[in-house]
Amino acid sequence: MTIRLVALRQPPPPVMDALQDFHIDVIADPQADWSVDALDQVRGLINFAGPLGQNVLDRLPNLEIISHMGVGYDGVDVDAAIERGIVITHTRDVLNADVANFAFLMLLAASREYVRQDTHVRSGAWENGQTPLTWSLEGKTIGIVGLGRIGRNLAAKLEAFNVTVLYHGRTQQDVPYEFCSDLVDMAHRCRAIVLLLPGGQGTDQLINADVLSALGPGSGLVNAARGSVVDQDALISALQTGQLGWAALDVFAEEANVPKALRELSNVLLSPHAASATIETRGAMFDLVAQNLRSYFETGKTLTPIPECQS
Ligand code: NAP
Ligand code: 8YV
Repeated sequence: MTIRLVALRQPPPPVMDALQDFHIDVIADPQADWSVDALDQVRGLINFAGPLGQNVLDRLPNLEIISHMGVGYDGVDVDAAIERGIVITHTRDVLNADVANFAFLMLLAASREYVRQDTHVRSGAWENGQTPLTWSLEGKTIGIVGLGRIGRNLAAKLEAFNVTVLYHGRTQQDVPYEFCSDLVDMAHRCRAIVLLLPGGQGTDQLINADVLSALGPGSGLVNAARGSVVDQDALISALQTGQLGWAALDVFAEEANVPKALRELSNVLLSPHAASATIETRGAMFDLVAQNLRSYFETGKTLTPIPECQS
């Protein structure tokens, strides 16, 4: 019998091709419309960035595996899935370089005010003079919050710019960078901090008004992690008053609803959760989504289970 899967969005052709011997129903609106047959026969689920909670799990009484597109799985109700014996996989490692490159781009674009330079030329303002001098990343101190797979990739790249890398996390690691157990102390010492840690309850609004004020008017925040990690109201207020110099944000408290107050600020760079969005990396992520399902149903083992599902 053909193995039945559901996908909580239309997967792209390479995933459909890689799983062409499976039966895949696409649930276009998981919060409302589940009008497909035989949900009790569904054994696997392809998940994207949206939330995956009890309401979805309740529809699928015989679900065995969730193949999640993305390394961060904070939107998935892991406890409820594990209680049901459901295995969860994610797309770790294949996106490390491109996400780190994007975080680096955010840092460098903020430091050299690249968007402002572009606007200056397009608007014709160059005829009246040059843009103000910018600050150099070379030789500065940058703090990474979450020195994991992506954070370490970024740190190695920053070394080439003679940057002193500090890091904050729950545990000290065997790396050639200084560990800072106190986030506020680290922020005081940095020209910028870059967020590359998971979202979810354990990190909710970790970057609060105290951390932002410790960074100060000459410094900035790069968030390539999750919007939930930052107190977004405190961030807007710190940017409006100049208490914080600048921010470069790829992720937001509620996507794709970016507050007008943020969009109107000139000391902010914004991108639409695009850090992993290259043809190559998204291709590798989709491939891993498909191969985890194939491996599970062919061998009983997955390739990249989340830590909570590793035996
Ligand atoms: P990872 O290897 O698991 O690294 C996560 C790091 O965060 C670890 O070093 C961990 O160190 C630290 N951490 C965990 N909980 C923490 C806490 N409560 N306080 C401080 N540090 C904490 O993960 P990764 O593969 O590098 O991915 C990191 C995150 O990047 C993902 O979870 C996702 O949210 C985000 N991401 C965003 C995009 C995007 O498109 N913008 C793309 C990919 C990933 P300790 O265990 O020592 O605390
Ligand atoms: C993706 C991400 O854009 O991997 C992650 O954690 O946030 C991004 O790579 C997202 O998960 C796409 O579904």
